[in-house]
Amino acid sequence: MHEMTAGDALSRQAVVAVVGAGTMGAGIAQVAAQYGHEVLLFDQQRETVEKALAATAAGLEKLVGRGKLAADERDRILQRLRPAQSLSDLSPATLVIEAIVERLDVKQALFRELESLCGPDTLLATNTSSISVTAIASALDHPQRLVGMHFFNPAPIMKLVEVVKGLDTSEAVAACIHATASAWGKQPVFTRSTPGFIVNRVARPFYAEGLRAIEEGATDLATLDAVMREAGGFRMGPFELMDLIGHDVNYAVTRSVFDAYYGDTRFQPSLLQLELVNGNRLGRKNGRGFYDYREGAETPQPKTEPACDRPGTIVVEGSLGVASPLIARWRAAGVNVVERAGAGLIRIGSLALALTDGRLAAERSVTQGTPRLALFDLALDYANCRRLAVTYSPMTDEASRQAVTGLFQAAGIEVSVIEDHPGLLVMRTVCMLANEAADAVHQDVCSAADADSAMRFGVNYPAGPLEWATRLGVEAVFRCLRHLEDAYGEDRYRPSLLLRKTVFSGGTLDV
Ligand code: NAI
Repeated sequence: MHEMTAGDALSRQAVVAVVGAGTMGAGIAQVAAQYGHEVLLFDQQRETVEKALAATAAGLEKLVGRGKLAADERDRILQRLRPAQSLSDLSPATLVIEAIVERLDVKQALFRELESLCGPDTLLATNTSSISVTAIASALDHPQRLVGMHFFNPAPIMKLVEVVKGLDTSEAVAACIHATASAWGKQPVFTRSTPGFIVNRVARPFYAEGLRAIEEGATDLATLDAVMREAGGFRMGPFELMDLIGHDVNYAVTRSVFDAYYGDTRFQPSLLQLELVNGNRLGRKNGRGFYDYREGAETPQPKTEPACDRPGTIVVEGSLGVASPLIARWRAAGVNVVERAGAGLIRIGSLALALTDGRLAAERSVTQGTPRLALFDLALDYANCRRLAVTYSPMTDEASRQAVTGLFQAAGIEVSVIEDHPGLLVMRTVCMLANEAADAVHQDVCSAADADSAMRFGVNYPAGPLEWATRLGVEAVFRCLRHLEDAYGEDRYRPSLLLRKTVFSGGTLDV
């Protein structure tokens, strides 16, 4: 019997093999060797293994140079990484991780061969991003020992590992891989084998809602990216991120998730992005994507309102909910804030100012009976944010607009005025991320806590979407989605049944 027991990590003495020494395989091999495993690295192209080992050595050298890794530890890691000449050299391995080309037939053939070469207890793991683990395992005599071990690029840096269970994967195997990933310093989550697993599914709205805002002329790229960063707290805006990932890759992931869910409009790819792919504007890697990276190109700046006078007094009616920390910022800036009962509105003279609830400002101004209406966007942290997107109803006069700008500026917040776009930018994106995470939980793909961890550690979101929804109020998220659904008349914005259940049962999302 090998070193595995349910829930225990592989022992350091276990040999790990990695097949495929490309971008992912090289990184995964390094992670396993850093923990202390002897790692056998195989690729069908022998020179690829040599290149991978040289690149790993160079990467570790940098760490030594920066004082982050001791030279003797670097030497030990490199000694543990061994090139394998043939697949049969991998037979001593307790765990074989596959990171070869993304093709079902090729992966099945590889695992069949590994089954014939390795012992009956050898654990088999695939790093696939988009192929069903169940389908890969179906070719095996012992499909219960195959599991997904999905790392993120670059594997030595990104914390998340999705542990993907196919229909046949044994619980003990999944538990061992989960514990092993944890021992390797990673943040593992469990997911059922469904298209996109957690991250590549739940992240789609981050790109899709940004793309839609631009397609509909809500604002420009630089403003949208700045709002997502400086108000939303995301490390990068969607357009700079897509440019970094590459449009060929990002579009292909969206396309594959869309097709896998039989054309569910929630995942609908964008024609705007397709046009970039068609034009070979793939992003940073070839000099042009949404932005121009060629030498001498100008960096576009976000739209920011010029300085305006602040209003002396504002009236806050009722609770501002998540936006309540703004009150202290205004008071600290010397604005006289009068508080009284009401429905969560700020009054500046005849103007009403409120957090967006997913309705157009034009529509809400009429329904609510406040012709002069300004709406502001969601921020991750209203106590510290430096920018907010704002929009106005058509009846709002210039003096009122300036008062809103002056009010936010007084609190140290830049204002980016955008067109009247339902749910503005951050709010609708966060609601759609939470909606997708809720649906994954509702469909038993993963737990709520794992959905949140996946997004925090796989794509560095500043908060898990479900935790964020809880902070915002599940009812507010649900209402915003209903308003978007109504505004567009599209299935894309249908709220997850889990949100509806949570709202009407008065429960929580279990994050
Ligand atoms: P890559 O193209 O950099 O490396 C693949 C390597 O596999 C190549 O060196 C190739 O020679 C080798 N190979 C192909 N067929 C083989 C076979 N039958 N036997 C042995 N070696 C073989 O690809 P990358 O990006 O490292 O992706 C590998 C896997 O990891 C794919 O399944 C991909 O979906 C998955 N993945 C990729 C991520 C990424 O960001 N690149 C992220 C997470 C997963």
